[in-house]
Amino acid sequence: RGKRAFIAGVADDNGYGWAIAKALAAAGAEILVGTWVPALNIFETSLRRGKFDESRRLPNGSLMEIAKVYPLDAVFDSPEDVPEDIRTNKRYASSSNWTVKEVAESVKNDFGSIDILVHSLANGPEVTKPLLETSRKGYLAALSASSYSYISLFQHFFPIINPGGATISLTYIASERIIPGYGGGMSSAKAALESDTKVLAFEAGRKKQIRVNTISAGPLGSRAAKAIGFIEKMIEYSYVNAPLQKELRAEEVGNAAAFLVSPLASAVTGAVVYVDNGLNTMGLAT
Ligand code: NAI
Repeated sequence: RGKRAFIAGVADDNGYGWAIAKALAAAGAEILVGTWVPALNIFETSLRRGKFDESRRLPNGSLMEIAKVYPLDAVFDSPEDVPEDIRTNKRYASSSNWTVKEVAESVKNDFGSIDILVHSLANGPEVTKPLLETSRKGYLAALSASSYSYISLFQHFFPIINPGGATISLTYIASERIIPGYGGGMSSAKAALESDTKVLAFEAGRKKQIRVNTISAGPLGSRAAKAIGFIEKMIEYSYVNAPLQKELRAEEVGNAAAFLVSPLASAVTGAVVYVDNGLNTMGLAT
């Protein structure tokens, strides 16, 4: 049978999660997605009304099918962790079973198991603030939504990921080089994610031969990136300075992800793979 993938962090057709879903669908995988609760309604409505039909088109002409959309908020592990104001919030109250533990249970009940887990989400409420002005709360929120969310997803899905499966996340070079403007602890969150990729590769590899990698992606004008405020500048900077002077398409990151979770990459684990037109290799702006 074909492989089954769960992709956390898809809420429109612009981001890396959507592109990864498409690349995996094109390779024959069955696609399940996890969509942030506050974005669920508009995403499902747009899907249903055909707003994404053009961008659902796969290379063979067919349209990507999403077998099921799960509401998800990856900063909450189980219902006990949800504070009153969120629980009673209208958008949250109209969905159910969206904590990480419950989503993993639902996927188990609906499909039994998965082969591929994708983490394509991040959030940092103080991302526009320099680290010198970041609050403890903002910093921990960035780590919770962008780093621990991956550990939590992996933990809860681990029992239902088939042996030989693979997981992947998305990181950014701000973890290791100074990118002024990527603040609020988001640079720290990506550093944690990359370090965790190695430790999780060891633990999941030894236990179940599951591979764990992360893609350090170049700049893309996604919804999340636009919220940071300097994405157009970063895209222009990359275009001018990278070894490959071309636009970076989300599809290129999708294809790299499809390779990394496929048997073609059966000896690759614990790696940070750059998909950025080579920008990370430059030592001098040109
Ligand atoms: P995106 O907006 O398509 O994806 C981010 C998703 O995270 C959104 O769908 C949002 O609804 C979801 N999300 C936020 N908080 C959540 C939560 N608590 N629970 C569940 N979902 C939540 O944007 P993009 O840029 O494609 O982001 C995907 C990944 O790629 C992120 O990890 C990001 O840091 C990474 N990345 C993005 C780059 C860029 O230039 N766009 C560059 C390098 C890495």
